[in-house]
Amino acid sequence: MKEGRTVEIVGKIKERTAHIGVIGLGYVGLPLVIRFCEETFRVTGFDIDDRKVKKLNKGVSYIKHIPPEKLREIKRKKLFRATTDYSQLKKMDCIIICVPTPLRKNKEPDLSYVENTSREIAGHLRKGQLVSLESTTYPGTTREVLLPKFEKKGYRVGEDFFLVFSPEREDPGNRRYHTGNIPKVVGGITPRCTEAGKHLYEQIITKVITVASPEVAEFTKLLENIFRSVNIALVNELKILADRMGIDIWEVISASSTKPFGFMPFYPGPGLGGHCIPIDPFYLSWKAKEFDFNTRFIELAGEINTGMPDYVVNRIIDGLNKKGKCLKNAKVLILGVAYKKDTDDSRESPGLEIISLLKDKGARVDYNDPFIPSFSGMRHYPGLSMESVRLTTVSLRKYDCAVIITDHSQYDYTWIVRNSKLVVDTRNAARNIKSNKIIKA
Ligand SMILES: NC(=O)c1ccc[n+]([C@@H]2O[C@H](COP(=O)([O-])OP(=O)(O)OC[C@H]3O[C@@H](n4cnc5c(N)ncnc54)[C@H](O)[C@@H]3O)[C@@H](O)[C@H]2O)c1
Repeated sequence: MKEGRTVEIVGKIKERTAHIGVIGLGYVGLPLVIRFCEETFRVTGFDIDDRKVKKLNKGVSYIKHIPPEKLREIKRKKLFRATTDYSQLKKMDCIIICVPTPLRKNKEPDLSYVENTSREIAGHLRKGQLVSLESTTYPGTTREVLLPKFEKKGYRVGEDFFLVFSPEREDPGNRRYHTGNIPKVVGGITPRCTEAGKHLYEQIITKVITVASPEVAEFTKLLENIFRSVNIALVNELKILADRMGIDIWEVISASSTKPFGFMPFYPGPGLGGHCIPIDPFYLSWKAKEFDFNTRFIELAGEINTGMPDYVVNRIIDGLNKKGKCLKNAKVLILGVAYKKDTDDSRESPGLEIISLLKDKGARVDYNDPFIPSFSGMRHYPGLSMESVRLTTVSLRKYDCAVIITDHSQYDYTWIVRNSKLVVDTRNAARNIKSNKIIKA
């Protein structure tokens, strides 16, 4: 009987009769839903946001890179339904958790979404179910936060139910790598849990890598993001030095990249953005304290990266100063508030911090972003509410300075430089244009 439940869940997965529940229908959850449906699984999506649920059930996408046709297709085939009703959880064979894991103001992990979700799952848990946590978090979360809630029912892990951690590696907007071909790491509480998790993900992903425990899988994801954060901080710091030395850091990186081994290019920018890199490393710093350990690289990288918006503002001030203008009352146009090129995601975007700093100093700021028509009430800037302005030759000419924060592909940089008085470029987007109006930042 003990092994019987593993055989049963693996059998259902392989036959694709397993009913999949995905909790949290955002940037991570929604692509997963689609991928499972593409492989003919029936999927129920759970979200607390009623508006999202209604939209999805009408086949409407609220994420730019997820085409509505995909949603309409899985709806037409009756493979997917979204709901806010957690009682449906007991019908699921496999439950995948993709809820947010933000930081609190003091940079401590906010696990409230994971806690609430696991409480709901525990309330509806039945024998034979497989639960996978995908939200990025510190090593120990699956075992210390989820497992006790599920065991409270008197069920035994690896026998009555299965529990794994499998980090998400979504890269929104990446045309080469998508949910189906990004290798996936899985670590279960017991070997049977790992086995069940491996079978689940093998149905939708080309390569699944199993590791010894959920802790290894949790740490793996953090290492990947800390690696990026530290290396981005390194080039951000060197950019400031190179600038003082009159050297173009972008040319240096490009030259270093010709080395066929032992070098990997990272690029400077206006600061970190998005849901992962600015946040996840601090999950490990927090946990490290329990082991009386200070994660110095993480702290230093965080300090450098969060200082970049100030650096950009100082470069804007320098540029205006050279033209005999001060920042107060200057008209500044921000180009791009998405944290990443060609996406519609402005979470933790350095663009918002730069707008806020410029406004504090009395500048008159507008923004344009082809993917973000408006924003308001963001977590860190509750008073900030703006609408994207239209870009025309006439409108561009009214600004004292245009600042390239996001290098969206659809911007015509030659046209922007030609019609602007001053361009501060944080992404080397205007690299092919020769003009003394451009300042790199
Ligand atoms: N966005 C990425 O590229 C990315 C990549 C890798 C890992 N991650 C990680 O994946 C997790 C989810 O990130 P995301 O970008 O998809 O977030 P998101 O904000 O886009 O989506 C999360 C969804 O969860 C819903 N939600 C919140 N609480 C809920 C609850 N109790 N029950 C049901 N639904 C609930 C929200 O309404 C939202 O729709 C985070 O831990 C993040 O760090 C994100």
